[in-house]
Amino acid sequence: MSKQQEDTKNKSWGGRFSEATDAFVEAFTASVTFDKRLYRHDIQGSLAHAQMLEKVGVLTKDEFLQIQQGLKQVQQEIEAGQFNWSIDLEDVHMNVESRLTALIGSTGKKLHTGRSRNDQVATDMRLFLRDEIDLIAKEIRRLQLGLLDLAEHEAETIMPGFTHLQTAQPVTFGHHLMAWFEMLERDYGRLQDCRKRLNVMPLGAAALAGTTYPIDRAYTAQLLGFDNPSTNSLDSVSDRDFGIEFCAVGSLIMTHLSRFSEELVLWTSAQFNFINLPDRFCTGSSIMPQKKNPDVPELVRGKTGRVNGHLIALLTLMKSQPLAYNKDNQEDKEPLFDTIDTLKGCLRAYADMVPAITPNKEQMREAAMRGYSTATDLADYAVRKGVPFRDAHEIVGKAVAYGISQNKDLSELSLEELQQFSSIIEQDVFDVLTLEGSVNARNHLGGTAPNQVKLAIKTARHLIG
Ligand code: ARG
Repeated sequence: MSKQQEDTKNKSWGGRFSEATDAFVEAFTASVTFDKRLYRHDIQGSLAHAQMLEKVGVLTKDEFLQIQQGLKQVQQEIEAGQFNWSIDLEDVHMNVESRLTALIGSTGKKLHTGRSRNDQVATDMRLFLRDEIDLIAKEIRRLQLGLLDLAEHEAETIMPGFTHLQTAQPVTFGHHLMAWFEMLERDYGRLQDCRKRLNVMPLGAAALAGTTYPIDRAYTAQLLGFDNPSTNSLDSVSDRDFGIEFCAVGSLIMTHLSRFSEELVLWTSAQFNFINLPDRFCTGSSIMPQKKNPDVPELVRGKTGRVNGHLIALLTLMKSQPLAYNKDNQEDKEPLFDTIDTLKGCLRAYADMVPAITPNKEQMREAAMRGYSTATDLADYAVRKGVPFRDAHEIVGKAVAYGISQNKDLSELSLEELQQFSSIIEQDVFDVLTLEGSVNARNHLGGTAPNQVKLAIKTARHLIG
């Protein structure tokens, strides 16, 4: 036999080939360098498949036990770092199967009965992503708990609330933190929705049309913890919606983290000086000795880009793809893996960092005083005394302009000064011009009053268990 013939014989699909694969093409088409990460789920899927084959009588009990034993050994070798991954064997599936056969002999060659790499890889990806989703969901919960604790501590701390990044009305820091909590709660829900649709088993679709063996798909699905077997073989091997959905959820998580990051970066600046991040989450400058940079939030903000990119990559990967499996689909892995790693890293950094945020309460308070943040309260006061809101708005606008000219906040103007703008203003106006008066007055579901924030925290703790 010639060297070339021998090369093709080594391939599991080499039978119909008369020349060896071009060396560059072999490396170009191989996925093992990155899909070896699926080994545990690949073996999990194979074990269940073999058990099912035994149940329906395609494998004998003894053959199944040999395969089971062999696959366990393969897993041990991989985990001990003693496994020899080979590019020639293209991907994780064929690497595992080939080693199995080397270990247990020709019984190993029976494992692939009634399946194809097409339904195998679709199954592996779902099993893998399902586990990763559970880890990511846990990290979201840890971050949420950190936010709840901090919000509870800061339920009465007053800061300026912003619209257009201009001081708008006073809010409590706890309320602001609870807004972040809400964003993450939606992310958590979306992750669970994605998991639900993902948890369907493609195995049994084989290459595309199903298989001639008397397989029991419900049994395999049950063994693997899937809710159901999939219902169309063509769709099963080609569908990557779950990956796209996951990346879309990931994009939103990163969008939220980038928004938190932007605020933390602003708030740690000397100009805002609202919060301190502990040194262990910051780095210095090699040239400017005074610097303490908020690297973690900046990096998280920056990493949003790659996750958005992965979402577009997967959407584009699937666009116009004809049924059923195409090699294009091998390109689903790297974007997904990187999305997972990025999410886990960013969420971990945030879950570790958030409990360590300390507010500079005096600075926050002073900033809230400085920006005429109780102007709406003064307008509402006038309305309560019978002035139509639009007129009240005008009156307060003039009072603010006057305050600016005198370099005084509304609460620092005397009663006489305030009365220049409307005779309905009386001594009790000072109750509403204080920051506490302002936040306490917004005492309804969803409002910023400390009472409401404490209630929201209680409800949230109940919700996330
Ligand atoms: N490595 C391949 C992938 O990730 C496995 C499936 C290959 N199937 C095939 N018909 N070539 O998509």
